[in-house]
Amino acid sequence: MKVPLIDLVRHHKPILDELNEAAQKVIASGRYILGPEVKAFEEELAQYLGAKHVVGVGNGTDALRLAIEAIRLKPGDEVITTPFTFVATAEIIAVACAKPVFVDVEDDTLNINPDLIEDAITERTKAIIPVHLFGQGAKIEKINDIAKKHGIAVIEDTAQGIGAERHGKKLGTTGTMGTLSFFPTKNLSALGDAGAVITNDDDLAHMLVTLRIHGAEAKYHHVRLGFNSRLDEIQAALLRVKLRHIDEWNRRRREIAAVYTDALKDYVRTPVVDEGNVHIFHQYTIRTERRDELREYLGNKGIATAIHYPVPLHMQPVFQSLGYKEGMFPIAEKAAREVLSLPVFPEMTEEEIDHVINSIIEFFKK
Ligand SMILES: Cc1ncc(COP(=O)(O)O)c(C=O)c1O
Repeated sequence: MKVPLIDLVRHHKPILDELNEAAQKVIASGRYILGPEVKAFEEELAQYLGAKHVVGVGNGTDALRLAIEAIRLKPGDEVITTPFTFVATAEIIAVACAKPVFVDVEDDTLNINPDLIEDAITERTKAIIPVHLFGQGAKIEKINDIAKKHGIAVIEDTAQGIGAERHGKKLGTTGTMGTLSFFPTKNLSALGDAGAVITNDDDLAHMLVTLRIHGAEAKYHHVRLGFNSRLDEIQAALLRVKLRHIDEWNRRRREIAAVYTDALKDYVRTPVVDEGNVHIFHQYTIRTERRDELREYLGNKGIATAIHYPVPLHMQPVFQSLGYKEGMFPIAEKAAREVLSLPVFPEMTEEEIDHVINSIIEFFKK
């Protein structure tokens, strides 16, 4: 039996007619950039999240890049983030000519450890970018408090956390801005690249709207340097269809995660859900010192797995010039040696779930 990490063909099958209809409507309209579908999606998503503004952009990396641009970083400014994330989070800081400053993660959630943040703040620190890793909230209330005390911004990288909550609020909505990715493997996904920035601040929303279209306030009236990063009409139309299903898909992910945890907790470190969080299990990531062996064993059983992430960012070649050394972020480094993401997607069958569980138990019993 083969178990994929995710199966997008299966994912789209039950809503294929709705998707086709939405795409056809856009094709027939002749309007493909920044039209009514983008506007409607932005409004519907803002309402779903309980936020004031959503600004659709080209992808999740651009969402971070535009958010950084909106707070007007200067060369040499510093931005604090986690070393245990996808490269984009820190990459965009460096691309904006600022300096990524890493602090280690918590051992249980693998989210940025808020207790380590204040020590990393200097007079050059302009922002903190926590990542809601694997679909569960970082301790955003503590991070927001620290940021407020020091007068700096918080950009919540919510690429993996759409629909997840912390203390009853949707992730991405309590910081200065939140960013989303609708990459095809994300919990709410486009059929291509897409992303968005969330904010409750009218001025920032206006700034973001201009930044995504060459800094234009009106056609051919450019007030600042910007980008070309727009959410396509066709992707917005498809996302509108899929947004109606997100809660059900996230609920099913949680259900699968509960079954996994119940069955596997005596064999591996299963994900810890922090108090106050509604986790949406973008990834179900276990930890074991026998990770590589287990991965090979599961591969031979037809089970796909992934390592998020094999190398913490402070040890990536691209960030060597920052001067970090191995041993500086021991929790992230240990996690990189132990993490293994198992298949988790709403359409998984009971047989597939059982096959994953039985194979892992078999591995540890053999
Ligand atoms: C934590 C995180 N940040 C940023 C991104 C970038 O998003 P995108 O691939 O849409 O540019 C991703 C996803 O790929 C991600 O997982």
